[in-house]
Amino acid sequence: MLPLIVDTDTGSDDAVALLLAAASGLGDIRAVTTVAGNVPLATGTRNALISLEVAGRDDIPVHPGCECPMTRMLSTAQHVHGHDGMGDISLPAPVRDAQPEHAVDVLLNYPHRHPGELTLVTLGPLTNLAVALLRDRELLGRYRHVYCMAGAADMRGNISATAEFNVWADPEAARVVLESATPEQVTWIGWDVSRKDAVMTPADQLWLEQLGTPMATFAHRVNRTLAEWAQAVTGLAGYDLPDPVAMAVALRPELIAEQEQAYVGVSLGQDTRGQLIIDRRRCAPAPNVTLVRRVDEQGFKQLLFDTCAPEGHR
Ligand code: BDR
Ligand code: CA
Repeated sequence: MLPLIVDTDTGSDDAVALLLAAASGLGDIRAVTTVAGNVPLATGTRNALISLEVAGRDDIPVHPGCECPMTRMLSTAQHVHGHDGMGDISLPAPVRDAQPEHAVDVLLNYPHRHPGELTLVTLGPLTNLAVALLRDRELLGRYRHVYCMAGAADMRGNISATAEFNVWADPEAARVVLESATPEQVTWIGWDVSRKDAVMTPADQLWLEQLGTPMATFAHRVNRTLAEWAQAVTGLAGYDLPDPVAMAVALRPELIAEQEQAYVGVSLGQDTRGQLIIDRRRCAPAPNVTLVRRVDEQGFKQLLFDTCAPEGHR
């Protein structure tokens, strides 16, 4: 099993990613760290605790981190994921509390104790990781690998015309991470991948719901407002699952169908805030990330269904 740290701004698709990491049998989550993003920090922390409980893993520590982006005001995505980030379906409060150790300290300390062993998966704005990098510039290399759900490599955005939410929310943080990265250390999975290869069609939604387990029901219900937003805004054939597909790639890299090494930058401009700048010229700076372009859609969905299926049907 892959030893993991998951950094998340837990909204409804982060919740599904946490189920994959905690209950697929492929991941061994050592700690979950939370960051403000989809929802305010306290709400995202609560949602991470609830998600782990549903996965039967209320032993995994959850550590709250940064309450706002590095230099900007927090703008949440509650219009997408619901006021509570979990589809506003009146989920019960979690049974336990978060841990006192700050997320940034966890991101710094765990790989020092276990050098080269842990995989980090980030599912929200990159604030916690960037702040950690300001304290240890070599941090990315202390992980076995880092996977980031961030950006839109085809410049088709979800929060603006050209930007994806996680990078848009804290573009300065994304820039710190990208300027510290190498393709061997960091794999970048953008919203373009989920738009192409991780759309839950009505048939997929029905299949998930009819699995009937507590995890399947939870995964289906929390994405209620995401489904409404996707129908109104994206024109996709259903709702997409950006964080789960990024988690699936970390757990099963063989699901990657197409990737390239590329130099990726971030715009801080007012009109283009958070837009990725991918330089493919021969004179471009050296590649800084491995950029995933396509994922095996059926393989991803099968992993999701298998994780949520009743025991004995996997
Ligand atoms: C990303 O932003 C959030 O809305 C999702 O949780 C995902 O991490 C998609 O742009
Ligand atoms: Ca997220």
